[in-house]
Amino acid sequence: MTARIIGTGSYLPSHVVSNQDLEKIMDTTDEWIRSRTGIEQRHIAVEETTTSMAVEAARRALENAQTDAKELDLIVVGTVSSDRHFPSTACEIQSALGAVNAVAFDINAACSGFLFGLGIANAYFASGSFQKALIIGAETLSKMMDWNDRSTCVLFGDGAGAAVVERSEEGIISMVQGSDGARGNVLSCHNRPVNNPFVKNDTALDYTSMNGQEVYKFAVRTVPEAISKMLKEANVSPDEVKYFVLHQANIRIIESVAKRLSQPAEKFPTNLQRCGNISAGSVPVLLDEIHRKGMLQKGDKIVLAGFGAGLTWGSALISW
Ligand code: COA
Repeated sequence: MTARIIGTGSYLPSHVVSNQDLEKIMDTTDEWIRSRTGIEQRHIAVEETTTSMAVEAARRALENAQTDAKELDLIVVGTVSSDRHFPSTACEIQSALGAVNAVAFDINAACSGFLFGLGIANAYFASGSFQKALIIGAETLSKMMDWNDRSTCVLFGDGAGAAVVERSEEGIISMVQGSDGARGNVLSCHNRPVNNPFVKNDTALDYTSMNGQEVYKFAVRTVPEAISKMLKEANVSPDEVKYFVLHQANIRIIESVAKRLSQPAEKFPTNLQRCGNISAGSVPVLLDEIHRKGMLQKGDKIVLAGFGAGLTWGSALISW
């Protein structure tokens, strides 16, 4: 048995920030951002929170899947920007949806969060006692950026994407996941320091820091390798894949992956121009967009791939 996606949904904040808007508040240019990354604008939360966006994406996915929240027995949320340390975003979503029969928890796999969540659903389904799951990637990374650090804050956006998956004979054909904690420092954000009556600690709040070139090198090498390995294991040629739905970090990374897989750019849908990098939200938001555009037909083979902090990476070959 495997996991099949039966509905998708997404939510983006209403406030849009263009590269030109950023030019007015920091030393950057539309030309620099666009030529280095392909990003033209991003949605930034003003009224929204990670939970509110995730709940809306989840409602849309449930409606799309014609599934009642009470049918869910698992809710997994990939996020590194939850509103509270606890309870988890997943438990807050469970409450908002009335998904009273679900087990709910968050996972931290950064931009691979949605892919790791799919892997968890797949494993739970294989165990035999779970039937329907809601997998969400939701982020408000704007609150974790140093808005004085032009090398990171221009890259990211906020948003949430969700998929309803069910236990099925068909769906996920193959998956590859990996982590390399030894390289974790190239993209990181510290949590609160130890601070209690026995340790005095006045360390200021930390923000996202990144060695962009190291992350770039990691992505252009690991992502095509992981996808190739997965396709080989499944005995599926890249030519048989209709779309490669990759994490939307940078157009140059996507073009490089396309080249290494010898596949045309048209097979790599993008929304990073409008959305920037939504971390765990990136893959499910894009998946929802292409699904709602009618670009996916039953039986199509598609590849989903995420990669990011950890370092982590994950890909899935799916029969739609
Ligand atoms: N606007 C204008 N100039 C900027 C800038 C900005 N927003 N950000 C950085 N710069 C400047 C730097 O200060 C540097 O100036 P200097 O040469 O005078 O020191 C110059 O641009 C080049 O910086 P560099 O970091 O070498 O640029 P780059 O060509 O490596 O591109 C990234 C930077 C971040 C776009 C690129 O490394 C990248 O895409 N990495 C992957 C990041 C990623 O995808 N992260 C998420 C993974 S989930």
